[in-house]
Amino acid sequence: MTTVKSPLTDEARKVTGAVLQDSLIDLIDLHLSAKQAHWNLTGRNFRSIHLQLDEVVDLAREHADTVAERAVAIGVNPDGRARTVADRSRLHQFESGFLPDDKVVAAITDMLGEMGARFRERVETTDDTDLVSQDLLIAAAQDLDKQHWMFAVQR
Ligand SMILES: [Fe+2]
Repeated sequence: MTTVKSPLTDEARKVTGAVLQDSLIDLIDLHLSAKQAHWNLTGRNFRSIHLQLDEVVDLAREHADTVAERAVAIGVNPDGRARTVADRSRLHQFESGFLPDDKVVAAITDMLGEMGARFRERVETTDDTDLVSQDLLIAAAQDLDKQHWMFAVQR
């Protein structure tokens, strides 16, 4: 059976792995939610929000890949299955059907704000367990905060 020898102690690997897994779920669901809004958006600001939502999709996909690959590198298998994400995600879920631009801006602002707060907690946690993972989480938090700002000012 394939295993990866972790560079971390058992306890540090366990804590860091859980943090990376929670981050992966957040990021996969952010990708899916931003695409749902990208497709179903309506309103005067359609064009700019439609394009900005794809920036969120891109950052979510990129950081999801980074945290998942870090998990494997420390000997923890990432779980990005749809059912796992659906069961465990804490993100706001959009209604089906068309989504007015003002509601999307408000919802995405809240989502990014809440996720940013969770990422900051994860940065704190990994301060004691794995500085390399912490670095990846800081980079993700930076991009989440930036998009949070750019949606919040459109409210
Ligand atoms: Fe598109």
